[in-house]
Amino acid sequence: MPTVIQAIEQRSSKRAYLPKPVPQDIQEKILNAAAMTPSGANMQPWKVMAISNEEVLKNIGDAIIARMDEGLEHDQFIQYYPVNWVNPYKKRRIVTGSGLYKLLEVDRKDNATRLKMWHDNFRWFGAQTVYFVFTDKANIDGAQGALIDCGAYMQSIMLAAQEFGIDSCPQGSTTEFGRVVARVLDMPDNLALLYSVVLGYEEKDAKINSYQPKRASLEETVTFIN
Ligand SMILES: Cc1cc2nc3c(=O)[nH]c(=O)nc-3n(C[C@H](O)[C@H](O)[C@H](O)COP(=O)(O)O)c2cc1C
Repeated sequence: MPTVIQAIEQRSSKRAYLPKPVPQDIQEKILNAAAMTPSGANMQPWKVMAISNEEVLKNIGDAIIARMDEGLEHDQFIQYYPVNWVNPYKKRRIVTGSGLYKLLEVDRKDNATRLKMWHDNFRWFGAQTVYFVFTDKANIDGAQGALIDCGAYMQSIMLAAQEFGIDSCPQGSTTEFGRVVARVLDMPDNLALLYSVVLGYEEKDAKINSYQPKRASLEETVTFIN
């Protein structure tokens, strides 16, 4: 069994999956483990729609792609990415994106392929289990703590999944169309989608799954005061 550090270091976002849902008993183990994620005042602000129904996933994907085809850039509850990108984050985003396109030999100007790769998010990269994580709008009305808690919850899901040989990809792409997801799922009005996580069994031969973007050094990101 991997150590905690190995599990953290070995996880990476996978973007091609075998058409195989995650069995319910394994999902329950993952979700029970993730439920132990700490949260401020133990408020546990996450509400999860754990979907392995092919038709429902297709309907969500169709609805999002239809909105994109209408020219809509987002239909969201929360703004995930910075509105104004500054360095070093801007540079890291560019390096990470261009690294993936380079690996796949996709030209910078090949907009059709790039669009298809973006649409792949909404086809769940071929996976058949996706978790949509919502929170109560009241939790994020003038406060951001629930976002921190739900972010930690995301990592718990992805790490716990690894114990069962299940890979994952977190998705902010669905955050951008959170209202579309909520409408298709007919969610109560008080809930806002924060993100989704695709879960499944990676297609091992897919080149895209070999991509492991590097991290900034501790010198860049940490200040020790001893
Ligand atoms: C909140 C969040 C949203 C993300 N959204 C997407 C997404 O919509 N599509 C995607 O392919 N990857 C998405 N990613 C994956 C990141 O691109 C990835 O975590 C990052 O490049 C580091 O690579 P790694 O996860 O393989 O270590 C997201 C990651 C996070 C944490």
